[in-house]
Amino acid sequence: MTPSKEELERLSEAQLLELVDRDYVPNHVAIIMDGNGRWARKRNLRRIFGHRQGADAVRNAVKACRELDIRYLTLYAFSVENWSRPKEEISALMKLLEGFLRKEKKEMIAEGIRLNAIGRLEDLPTSTQEEVAQTKEATKDGDELLLTMALSYGGRTEILEAVRRMMDAGVEPKEVNEENFHRYLYTDGIPDPDLLIRTSGEMRISNFLIWQVAYSEIYITPTLWPDFARRDLYEAVIEFQSRERRFGGLGKD
Ligand code: IPE
Ligand code: IPE
Ligand code: MG
Repeated sequence: MTPSKEELERLSEAQLLELVDRDYVPNHVAIIMDGNGRWARKRNLRRIFGHRQGADAVRNAVKACRELDIRYLTLYAFSVENWSRPKEEISALMKLLEGFLRKEKKEMIAEGIRLNAIGRLEDLPTSTQEEVAQTKEATKDGDELLLTMALSYGGRTEILEAVRRMMDAGVEPKEVNEENFHRYLYTDGIPDPDLLIRTSGEMRISNFLIWQVAYSEIYITPTLWPDFARRDLYEAVIEFQSRERRFGGLGKD
């Protein structure tokens, strides 16, 4: 029997780790990192301080995935809709991302982490595009964890771009099926997420991986992203392991 959420919260990080079934960790975890602004507002700080703290949470989430030997981690860092935010917030977010990649590159290489990026990368400032490209190149031999950052990402945009590319390639209507459609998505070669986490309690997908999460287990926590620690990821995985995935079938009984 899986302990209740309250019981899990009373356990230490080491005790939580012991509860994780190492033979059944999700292969791919995707996270909607939400709540940075609210975290800052609660402290009477400007939103950017929440984003700054959020970058530390990213570091922790990556470490927790390495600890559990999770092979794919996809983080929703900036949506196509986020371009509607104030200019200052957008440029601060881009600078934060660049600084994050610059600082973490060495450790990523040491840890076998390979960076990947999905979305309308061409919309990002040139300096951000360059930092992303350099980090991808520097980490390309990493084979422990594929860390995908969704940047200027929109699920509907991704699907429309896939359709356009498919038509450009001259694919016949009768050849269109789920498998070859997947090849035209940004996530070609990446298995669908097993576990989708959203922080800050919002009960929505916000245009994230809408094709790929068709059968993902969803875990929503009220914790704001800057407060999301390694133990929170372990709790999500323990909860995931207690779920029965049926994929439309009848399940075990
Ligand atoms: C998530 O935090 C970060 C991004 C979307 C870039 P928010 O900035 O959305 O924080 P809230 O939702 O306003 O608290
Ligand atoms: C989703 O968060 C996008 C990212 C985490 C990058 P938002 O804060 O943009 O989503 P909504 O507006 O609450 O749906
Ligand atoms: Mg938000």
